[in-house]
Amino acid sequence: MNVSLLAQDRIEISDRAEFRDAVLEGLSRTPRAIPAKFLYDARGSELFDAICELPEYYLTRTETGILQSCTPELARLAGPGCALVEFGSGSSVKTRLLLDAMPDLAAYVPIDISRQHLDATAARLRRDYPGLRVEPVCADYMALDSLPADVNGAPRLGFFPGSTIGNLEPQDATAFLRRARRLLGDRGAMVLGVDLRKDPRRLHDAYNDSAGVTAAFTLNLLRRMNRELGGTFDLAGFAHEAFYDQIQGRIEIYFRSLRAQIVTVAGRTFAFAEGERVHTEYSYKYDAAGIAALAKSAGFTIDRTWTDPDRLFAVTYLEAAP
Ligand code: AVI
Repeated sequence: MNVSLLAQDRIEISDRAEFRDAVLEGLSRTPRAIPAKFLYDARGSELFDAICELPEYYLTRTETGILQSCTPELARLAGPGCALVEFGSGSSVKTRLLLDAMPDLAAYVPIDISRQHLDATAARLRRDYPGLRVEPVCADYMALDSLPADVNGAPRLGFFPGSTIGNLEPQDATAFLRRARRLLGDRGAMVLGVDLRKDPRRLHDAYNDSAGVTAAFTLNLLRRMNRELGGTFDLAGFAHEAFYDQIQGRIEIYFRSLRAQIVTVAGRTFAFAEGERVHTEYSYKYDAAGIAALAKSAGFTIDRTWTDPDRLFAVTYLEAAP
């Protein structure tokens, strides 16, 4: 027996065990739910990139447009010599707008759970920004307590774009921002991208695109369960469902069973009634008061907010409250 497993194999085995436990737990409870982070396997990440290009999905291009015009002011607010800390850096596309506007950064610290993503991003940025110190941290930013020791002296500027904060339930959003506040320290600041409340039709369309890419993204979770956990989900037997709940101010996303059926996954059998749903995502939308309350609850004050002319999206600059 080969007992000397490579580090990468060990990570894959523990990732699979985490996925299996989450799926078995999520399908065993009422109402059924599987955490959104499991949507992002390699195919899920590709589909999400495709979502960002969709005509209905205004979030990415609107935020990018805001960042393109606000980075000079943002760089002035942050001042020279700070360390830019990105929570969940992915491919760091929007980061480049900040890097271009802040040539005198002490360091760029991308934090990402995917070692592969992180290494690829760090290599690309080191190539394109030869003078920049890149200090990648492979970690779950929801559970990180410290940053590399050599960025200790520099004031820290956090970056959490893309409305990812919206995928957290309000208490988790506050917990995340509190943790970020501790990590960034008393001289710290945070640039946060937030999707705003708006016409429900527009929100509905953003998560029910006519090309069906968002549906493919949701249903890819079933493919992943089939592939990684020996599942027997019939993809034609389930549908993507997304709607805006105006009271809660959130998009809710599910996969819904189109008929009564039995599915086996990770060696366990689950019965689905016709119409039964499994929750996969929330995407909370904020208004100005909601952003202010969130910032305050986590120990930040809002220094500046930039929006697009249609007020679809906001980029806020939060400062650590004394
Ligand atoms: C990553 N996140 C901000 C996306 C959103 O808009 O909530 C995830 C997404 N799910 C379906 N479409 C987009």
